[in-house]
Amino acid sequence: MVDRIIVRRSGPLEGSVTINGAKNSVLKLMAASTLTAGTYVLHNVPAITDVSIMSELLEAMGLKVTSPAPNDLQIVNPGDLTPVAPYELVEQMRASIVVLGPLLAAYGEARVALPGGDDFGPRPIDMHLRGLELLGVTFDTAHGYIHASAPNLQGARVMLEFPSVGATENVMMAAVRAKGQTVIENAAREPEIADLAAFLNRMGAEILGAGTSTITIDGVDALHSVEHTVVPDRIEAATYLAAVGVAGGELTLVGARPDHMDMLCQKMGEMGVRTSTDPEGLWAMSQKRLRATDIATLPYPGVATDYKPFLVAMLSVADGVSIVTENLFSGRFRYVDELIRMGADIRTEGHHAVIRGFESLSGAPVKCHDIRAGAALVVAALGAEGETEIYDPWHVDRGYANLVEQLKAVGANIERVS
Ligand code: EPU
Repeated sequence: MVDRIIVRRSGPLEGSVTINGAKNSVLKLMAASTLTAGTYVLHNVPAITDVSIMSELLEAMGLKVTSPAPNDLQIVNPGDLTPVAPYELVEQMRASIVVLGPLLAAYGEARVALPGGDDFGPRPIDMHLRGLELLGVTFDTAHGYIHASAPNLQGARVMLEFPSVGATENVMMAAVRAKGQTVIENAAREPEIADLAAFLNRMGAEILGAGTSTITIDGVDALHSVEHTVVPDRIEAATYLAAVGVAGGELTLVGARPDHMDMLCQKMGEMGVRTSTDPEGLWAMSQKRLRATDIATLPYPGVATDYKPFLVAMLSVADGVSIVTENLFSGRFRYVDELIRMGADIRTEGHHAVIRGFESLSGAPVKCHDIRAGAALVVAALGAEGETEIYDPWHVDRGYANLVEQLKAVGANIERVS
């Protein structure tokens, strides 16, 4: 039997879901544990495949990763690691590239397999490399690996061409042990960057301004291991907001941080989903058919590209015509073909999509192409007539600990079969 998620039209949803720790933060915190020897403890760690892949990568380098309790991770760094990220693991998860900065800081060298392309289209790492070069790193690429070396990291002014999340993180992690001051201009401002800086500062780093466009890092001579709680996953929270938008009902997202989702909540409001800050997190309600609106993805605090698949799923059943513009990843419209198989009226042209909302989609067999696209198909299926079978759900497992179980608990007609 093939593993798949089966969804039947559902709603209204009712109750509360708990938001897990952010995938895009925890992976970087795990990478940062290569910086110095000691025992690190992370709380609020989501039980997702990407965390397992990052654990494997850390273990391949010589660290020991265990889970003493659900959602806790203990990482023991014995020092004297092998600063190599092998192809088998980098190929499974592009985020592995963020070990480059901390390994350079700790060992003055690193060998990391070059990540290939993926379903979003080309995903270069030129900005990571250019930023690190300014700190004195030299690169040599051969046999599919980057060999980076920097016996003496030196602080520098790094102006990023685009506020890249990964490049900001790699430069920040290298700079914590560089001699002197590093200033990153046009830095990415995502809450996960601020979480990484909080983790590093707790380790003894001196970072100011993370979460703004200018990050200042004063290099320090020594760091130490720490305990830290991972920031909640705003993208997982967005998935549930979209679910309540499509299926209707009222949900409380326990642990969500509304202050990390301002622009998204504004867009939700335009579409007819009411949200408000709740003592437990974020409350959301949707009672009527959604309304069309135009959306353009932008780096934080704009509407995240990761939200877009859910928003497109919502707009497919909204009243009116919407235009969605993707400004980050040129190829991030592949899931649209799957929505069209469910009856959606979506035309894409370059990085734009024009969506004419239908009252209802119709359930169909469809396939996940990446984490968020898979979750978007689940969202769309909640409002589709009949049954939707979603194949290749392992993509969803990469970023969601318990999407099916949580949706089921609030009344969705959903199950995982294999
Ligand atoms: N870019 C370059 N050169 C670089 C780096 C990036 O041209 O050296 C371009 C990319 O091709 C893209 C844009 O800059 O067009 C933004 O890329 P960014 O570096 O900001 O993204 P990332 O660090 O590779 C993270 C998240 C993604 C999320 C993006 C954008 C992680 C592990 N991944 O990727 O999340 O879409 O930021 O916000 O943090 C996901 O969670 O499913 C996911 C894909």
